[in-house]
Amino acid sequence: MTLVLGIETSCDETSAAVLDGAGDDVAQKSLVILSQDVHRVYGGVVPELASRAHLTSIVPVVERAIEEAGTTLERIDAVAVTNAPGLVGALLVGMSFGKALAFSRGIPVLGVHHMEGHLFAAALEHRDAVPPFTALLVSGGHTLLLDVEEWGRYRLLGGTRDDAAGEAFDKVAKLLGLPYPGGRYVEELARSGDPKRFQFGRPMLRRNALPTDEDYYAFSFSGLKTAVLHAVRGSKDLEAEKAHIARAFQDSLIETLVEKTWRGASSFGRQRVVLGGGVACNRTLAAAMRARMEPEGANVFTPSPRLATDNAAMIARAGMFRLERGERSGLDLNAYASRPIPGLVTA
Ligand code: KG4
Ligand code: ZN
Repeated sequence: MTLVLGIETSCDETSAAVLDGAGDDVAQKSLVILSQDVHRVYGGVVPELASRAHLTSIVPVVERAIEEAGTTLERIDAVAVTNAPGLVGALLVGMSFGKALAFSRGIPVLGVHHMEGHLFAAALEHRDAVPPFTALLVSGGHTLLLDVEEWGRYRLLGGTRDDAAGEAFDKVAKLLGLPYPGGRYVEELARSGDPKRFQFGRPMLRRNALPTDEDYYAFSFSGLKTAVLHAVRGSKDLEAEKAHIARAFQDSLIETLVEKTWRGASSFGRQRVVLGGGVACNRTLAAAMRARMEPEGANVFTPSPRLATDNAAMIARAGMFRLERGERSGLDLNAYASRPIPGLVTA
């Protein structure tokens, strides 16, 4: 058994976790997530403030994770730390700390791709959320549809041409006067919305589309956001209509996510669908995905909200997989704002 310490500081959460196990039999011993509330005041993440907040929290957060795991630093076997993608200044804090810790103890350190972490999150709670599966990763910065034949072998089916799904939720929340980050407020508001009052188009969802079409699996949400903007501007009583607008926006976005995921699952004959990323907290999305997949004989796995949003347990889990494959990072490990997920196979 291996004790892995995971560290995540790519955006506005300082997180550390300890996992114990091997293969797909892994126990989460602890998970500490410290969210930086300061960004709410600005309506978005301020990179410099994020780095500073990580600096002040990283030591206590890691100490707490080790303590909650009922272990000591001396017993940790390896360190897994997010090194891409994300805010470079924020990533550098966790990465430098992780490297220094590993160096001082003489144990391996491994740089983990944040989106590969999201891919592993569901597996921490669901034994069957393991390959082969179709994955939909929907976060504030990314929208990725992947076919996962096995861990470490990812076929990129589609991504977003403009805004990420979470970004679209956040921008629409802002237009409707809701707090940041707005995804969950939009979902809440949409619940009381009438689905027939507004109708927005389904981006890139032509019924007669063919798998050979360039946009068969692709996403685009900026047009939808503009449709919301026009509805808001054209509204004579926004207070009364904003729930209906939120509903029409969410219905359109979810139908697109579900149909494209279905296309991926059916093209590759997958019987499992795994969701990840902050937008996977959206219960309306999870319910719609189940309603579409289950009659076709496919199971849908979603992480609980704590593991769907940014956390270090998923980073430790992805790191554990790569450590078992013999991978190690050197002390020259660097941080990158953007990098393709490792293990991509071409079509
Ligand atoms: O994965 P995550 O925590 O951070 C990134 O790596 O980006 O995702 C954050 C995103 C935000 O855009 C937030 O609005 C969205 O997840 N989100 C939701 C919900 N809860 C969080 N979007 C829709 N519905 C929700 N219930
Ligand atoms: Zn994330």
